[in-house]
Amino acid sequence: MKGLKRRAILQPMDTRAYSTWLEIDLNAIKNNIKQIKSMTGTEVMAIIKANGYGHGVFAAAKAAAEAGASWLGVARIEEALNLRAVGIQSNMMVLGYTPPILIPEAIQNDIHVAIYDPDMAQAYVSYAENVKGRLKAHLKIETGMGRLGMAPELAHDFLYAHKDHPKVVVDGIFTHLARADEPEADSAKQQLAIFTNLLAQLKKADLLPSMIHAANSAGVLNFPEAYFDMVRPGIAIYGLDPSPETKVPGTFRPALTWKARLTSVRTLPPGHGVSYGSIYITSEEERIGVIPVGYGDGYRRVPGQQVIVKGKLVDVVGRVCMDQCMLQLDTIPEARTGDEVVLLGRDGDQEISANDLAARWGTINYEVLCGLADRLPRIYLEQ
Ligand SMILES: Cc1ncc(COP(=O)(O)O)c(C=O)c1O
Repeated sequence: MKGLKRRAILQPMDTRAYSTWLEIDLNAIKNNIKQIKSMTGTEVMAIIKANGYGHGVFAAAKAAAEAGASWLGVARIEEALNLRAVGIQSNMMVLGYTPPILIPEAIQNDIHVAIYDPDMAQAYVSYAENVKGRLKAHLKIETGMGRLGMAPELAHDFLYAHKDHPKVVVDGIFTHLARADEPEADSAKQQLAIFTNLLAQLKKADLLPSMIHAANSAGVLNFPEAYFDMVRPGIAIYGLDPSPETKVPGTFRPALTWKARLTSVRTLPPGHGVSYGSIYITSEEERIGVIPVGYGDGYRRVPGQQVIVKGKLVDVVGRVCMDQCMLQLDTIPEARTGDEVVLLGRDGDQEISANDLAARWGTINYEVLCGLADRLPRIYLEQ
């Protein structure tokens, strides 16, 4: 939890050096996590898988630890090992599958793994035999997600068999909610009933692991009964809504803005094609701008898009290329090469949110964020 050894990774950089970049407000992430902590009163495992939902995993990890998240959750062990390699000391957990061959690394790097299958546990134990120390694990229970999880009826015997085990300590138990973003549906309540029944049985048998957790962001927002000892928010720590039905409070702040610079502004004559396939043809003299953003950056190749230039929405015209796309700038005569353009975020009175892009692209805000390409420089703002 002590932050980074190599702080240089997070040094603010000069945006004049970039033609397109992401600005990430680490104070927004910290503010969102602090609010979650005070809402729930529990420990927080900040979910920073998939490069911190596109925000940059190292900065997200540092901000989370500074805001009081005592755990970091990732999907794969490589993600956790990379965090350890730069000196991040928080409690860390791999939520998905860990290949048995990497169990020695998990032990040596003090990384918790998820166990959800007795055979898997056996394989883990055999790899753990080769190193000093005990593997730390949380047992994942299937309560209705239909993804990873041990059937509740197997949990008692599993925990009994691993009580005081010389090579494994199961110090947590958790489940995952499939429909926590639908407050009216009974699904989450049913899952929680299965989970709490099991917890009661395990408690009676003196087999209950010390750390219990279930709530993702939507669980945090809709189901206080899912808080237990720790919550596992992802999307909400970045200030975004889990779904259209479940929104974060207005006091949460989105952390990410995507900007670019105009790399060309010129007037094309009437009847001039713009971009591949010439699906857009100027109807009169038109001012056409270029920004160096394309599907190679995670911007989708769909028609009907807009960006913000000098506080005004303008149309993206013609096909989006791999690294560039074109803008119709007739309404912004003052626009010049080098001026900033906002693709995602706020500029003046206009805003294009991750939800707006998701609606445009026929997907969810999570996918918009995770699709932001690695090549986009991440610039960290932290007053
Ligand atoms: C097991 C688990 N917990 C928590 C989360 C965080 O979910 P959210 O981003 O919806 O808060 C995820 C994300 O997919 C997850 O897989």
